[in-house]
Order: sequence, then structure tokens, then C-alpha cells
Amino acid sequence: MNAYKRYLITSALPYANGPIHIGHLAGVYVPSNIYTRYLRLKGVDVISICGSDEHGVPITIKARQEGVSPQDIVDKYHAIIKKSFEDFGITFDIYSRTSSKAHHENSAEFFRNLYDKGLFIEKTTEQYYDPEANQFLADRYITGTCPHCNNEKAYGDQCEKCGTSLNATDLINPKSTLSGAKPIRKSTKHWFLPLERYQSFLEKWILEEHKEWKTNVYGQCKSWLDQGLQPRAVSRDLNWGVPVPVEGAEGKVLYVWFDAPLGYITATKELTPDWEKYWKDPETRMIHFIGKDNIVFHCIVFPSMLKAEGSYILPDNVPANEFLNLEGNKISTSNNWAVWLHEYLEDFPGKQDVLRYVLTANMPETKDNDFTWKDFQARNNNELVAILGNFVNRALVLTHKYFEGKLPEMGPLTDYDKSTIEELPKLKASIEKNLESFRFRDALREMMNIARLGNKYLADSEPWKIYKTNPHRVATILNVSLQICANIAILAEPFLPFTSEKLRRMLSTSAAGWTKSGNINLLPVGHQIEKAELLFEKIEDDVVESQLAKLKSTKMENQAKAKPIEPQKGTITFDDFTKMDIRISTVLAAERVPKTKKLLKLEIDTGIDKRTIVSGIAEFFKPEDVVGRQVCVLVNLEPRKIRGVLSHGMILMAKNSDDSLRFVEPNEAVDSGSSVN
Ligand code: 2FM
Ligand code: ZN
Repeated sequence: MNAYKRYLITSALPYANGPIHIGHLAGVYVPSNIYTRYLRLKGVDVISICGSDEHGVPITIKARQEGVSPQDIVDKYHAIIKKSFEDFGITFDIYSRTSSKAHHENSAEFFRNLYDKGLFIEKTTEQYYDPEANQFLADRYITGTCPHCNNEKAYGDQCEKCGTSLNATDLINPKSTLSGAKPIRKSTKHWFLPLERYQSFLEKWILEEHKEWKTNVYGQCKSWLDQGLQPRAVSRDLNWGVPVPVEGAEGKVLYVWFDAPLGYITATKELTPDWEKYWKDPETRMIHFIGKDNIVFHCIVFPSMLKAEGSYILPDNVPANEFLNLEGNKISTSNNWAVWLHEYLEDFPGKQDVLRYVLTANMPETKDNDFTWKDFQARNNNELVAILGNFVNRALVLTHKYFEGKLPEMGPLTDYDKSTIEELPKLKASIEKNLESFRFRDALREMMNIARLGNKYLADSEPWKIYKTNPHRVATILNVSLQICANIAILAEPFLPFTSEKLRRMLSTSAAGWTKSGNINLLPVGHQIEKAELLFEKIEDDVVESQLAKLKSTKMENQAKAKPIEPQKGTITFDDFTKMDIRISTVLAAERVPKTKKLLKLEIDTGIDKRTIVSGIAEFFKPEDVVGRQVCVLVNLEPRKIRGVLSHGMILMAKNSDDSLRFVEPNEAVDSGSSVN
């Protein structure tokens, strides 16, 4: 990493159509902040850029819903987002916004530059138009059925269920979200970036030269490149955005994904007149922190734009994270299924680091992960309080008790002292290695291992038992312990900046640089420390219960808004009911039915026999999620062939209001073959 002279860290510009939630934090902003803080502590020249993404259809839709202007919406959320980042210790060098004059000028100039070089294709195509609202239906103004997964609520630009990027004209049964009308097709002219011209460049740059990128990122890029890139429209028929800066483009603006990444450049220009050294000098290492839904734009589209312009550097890495769920369900701004940062900060004053810790420990680095309030409480009580807080508190309190708060002199070291001290540089090196590979969870674990080391050292050495007989030994133990605390004060800073600051205050030490840590020479003998305060407090059950109650009421509100419950079916006789033979069964093996999106082929132990059942659950469960599970099976259903496989029975599933499926399963293990009635 030292070959670079400076770092440019960008974090995805959040849409200013809602506040920041824990999914944004775990996916993008906590990792980018840890990384930036780490580099800065090492003395590296680094700038961290972010700002609000204030264009795009979701913002105009929100404005319509609230009966205000798009500018009102972005003003409101820009202020909320900016303040919540600041209060949470997500420190950017600049937090800018894309509705600014500076950004309009910068992005229009960038477009114009490519336009003048003839690097766009101008095409007149037929787009959907709402004849009642008299408006073209860009992106989210249109919904319909996804041709890939049959989701009936896919948008004109993307299906959120299967993640496929779509063109509005791909949708089956398209419908205007403005009026509900069936749209008509109407000709309109747009500018397209011919991505296929950059295909071979991108293949070499990503697939050959950046094999070190995270598997999820590399895999998505490869799949896009394998499918063959197509021209991509970079303008839209909308009245909110950066006007297309050419003649004959009235009523057209730049596509939000064209102008938004240019916002990184605008923000850098606003930050420093020296901006070009960050964007144009190959000795700058640029890193984009993003969520997985942004991969194609940051790895394919934006690099193609920069390459087309010609004078810019490209990102050296794009460490995209997967998604964080909340209590088992997808986080959703529109369904209010989220933990909102500004609300957390109100409900948990002074506890920024608890959330930072939990989100890092549970970061969705390689797969989607789940945030639960119980886990939040457990990690606070069992890790932050019981390990880190406990160790620091004991070391400080004992130093006050025996040595009036002055660092005592170290005597001869035992083998145990030496082996403990030798761990420090190793743990520091491991934190660094993990951070440099964007493995934030492992880096945090190693930081906590320093506190574990100190905790164990104190517990094993038991200074409180030997003070009367051997105060010199106690002096050594507390010297070593306080030196470990001083290491934590430095090495925890990227992860837990508020705790680190508090600890430095208690140790009465300034922010010594990262490079000085990893040893026991941080505090001089006789150094006076301050009074010990608790670093963390236990979180009681009622606190998490009230957060769970808040989510429960959101769920009930959503259910009330959701589609009506199906009416009861016609009456059946008891005999009809007893004809159904439902048994508790165990899934022995599972695999996808080839060339289908929905079907899994399951080998089932019904207790009566072992048999094959084909079930339409593949959109909701991976084969590995179902093996070993106990399920309810209607075993005497007439067998039928599904996609060439004879299916012998049916697994009972509950269909949620959002059409997602859940197993009906016993709440405790039951013998296979037990009947359900
Ligand atoms: O997904 C999003 O929230 C986008 N607003 C991210 C934009 S990142 C950048 F390109 F501006
Ligand atoms: Zn889909």
C-alpha cells in the first residue's frame, strides 16, 4: 500500500429521499470511516468524500406524495443525513450535495466534453408515456412484472426482488405509478454511452488486473462482461436533474447515475483547489465504498465515463458489501422497516460506539447479514462491557488504589509478562493486515483480542491478592496493563472513536500516532492518569424490548396497508379434512431444478418413506437453507410430474402479505412421520 502517495476515499452518495439507516451504515459508511480513520492515524495523505445524491425519480415521487417540491425534499433530508453522520462520528472531509450550482456546472461540463468528442450515440427510441399525466415514465415511474422472476412490483430500471437491472420496455403488464394508466409508447431522443466500446478495456482492467477484488464484486463484473455490454442511456425525460447541456434537449436531464458519481469530483473541487492531484495523478489510490446494488455503476459505467474523458484515474478497489437485514426482513425505507440513525442517536445518547461496534462485528462483508436487537444487547453486555470496559476499568481503578493514579515503575518481567507483551505487535499487525484487505470484522475481532489479552492478564496475575506481600510485582502488572490500555486507545480509534477519545482522556494522553503503538513504551513512569469512568453501560431488557415494540407496530401498520386478507374458502366436511394426510418430515437433501428460477428438488424423509418433492420455494430459500429442516408435508397428494421430475407430495408453506414464503414448522423437534391434525 505504500507505493501510493495519497488516498481518495469515496462513499456512495446517499439518496436524499429519506434518512440514513443501519443498512447504509453497515454497508458503506462504517467501513469507509474505519478505513479513512486508519489511514489518517498512520499519517497517510487521505481525503474522504461524500454528499447527498439529490436527483433521480425516487425524490420526485416522494415530493409528489408529500405535495412539496423536490428541492424541499432534498433540503430536508440533506440536513438530516449530514447532521446524523456528524453526530455518529462519520467524518467526511466534505459532505456535499448534487443539487448545487457547482455540481450542475461540473456534471454538465463533463457531459459536454464527451458530447463534443462525439463519444455518445444519439438515438430516438420509443419510451413509455403516461397519456393521462402527460409525462414520459422514466425508471420508477413505471412498474410491472419482472420478466426474470415474475415479481409483479418490478420498477422500470430494476427489479428489487432478483436484482436484475431492467429497461422499462422489458416489463410485462407495465403500469404508470403516476396515474395507474396503461402507458403508451412515444418517440423520444436520448444520448447513450456505448459501453460496448469499453468492453475489452474493462475485461483487461477488471478481470485480469484486479483479481484481488472481493469475490462478490469481481463476480458481478464478470457476469456483466460475459453477457456483453450494451449502450446505456445517460439522459431522461424529466424536469428534475441536471439539464442536458445541448441544443434541442429541452425537458431532458442527465440520468441520475450519470451525474451522481461525478458528484465525487464536484465535492473534491469544492474541498480543495488541488483537486486534480487526487483525481488525475496515478500515484493516488482511489477506493469506492458502496453497497452491492451499486457495483455495476462504480465498476463498469463510471470507469467507462472516466476512461472516455481520458485524464482521470480509475478506482483501485471497490470493496462493496452485501445487505444488512433487520430482524429477519429486508430493510425498507418505504415500509419504515429500519433502524434510523437520527432516531438511534436520540434513543441512545452517547452510545454511538455501541452501534458502530455491532454493525462492524456483523458487517455483511461476504453475505447478507441480520441485525437483531437481542444481538445488539448481547454484544454490548458480553463484549464491550464485560471485556473492553471491564479490563480498562480494573486497570485504572487499581492504579488509583495502589499508586495514587501514577504509572508505577516496572520491575523484572516474568515469562508470562513477556509472552503477553509479545502479543501486542502481532495483534496490531493482524489488525493492519485485515484492514488493508477490507476485512473489517476480523480487524475488529483482533482489536478486541487486545482487550481480551489484558483482561486475562489481570485475571491470571491477580494483583489485588498480592499487593500486601509483593507491591513491586503489582507495579509491574499495572504498568503492563496501563500500557495495554494505551494501545487500545490508539488501535480502537478507527472502530470506536468516541471510546478511544474517552480512554485517552482518562489516561491523560494525547492522540499518539498509530505507528508508535504495538509496544509497552507509550506511557512514561510517574505519568498521572485521570479518574476512571465506565466506558460502556449494560443495556437492560426493557430498552431492547421497547425497540422491538416499535418494530412490531411498524409491522402491524404495514400489514394493515397490505393487500386484503383472502376471504375464507367454502365449508368442507370433517371427512374432507381427515382425507388429508399431513406428516412432519425432514429434508435430507436439496438442489435447484436446472433452468428454473423457482423450483427446488427435495429429498424428504416422511417417516413412512423417503421420497422426492419438487417445491416452488427457490426464490426464498437456498438448498443449504433447507437441508435438515423439519417441514409439514401433505403426503397423500396425487403425484405429478413437474419439469420432468415426479413430485410425490406437497410441502406446506405460509404466504406472507408481500408474497414471500415461510415454512410451517414445529416449534420443537418432532419425530418424522408424526401426523399433523
Ligand atoms: O444507491 C444509492 O443510494 C445511490 N444514491 C448511490 C450513488 S453513489 C454515487 F455514484 F453517487
Ligand atoms: Zn426480478
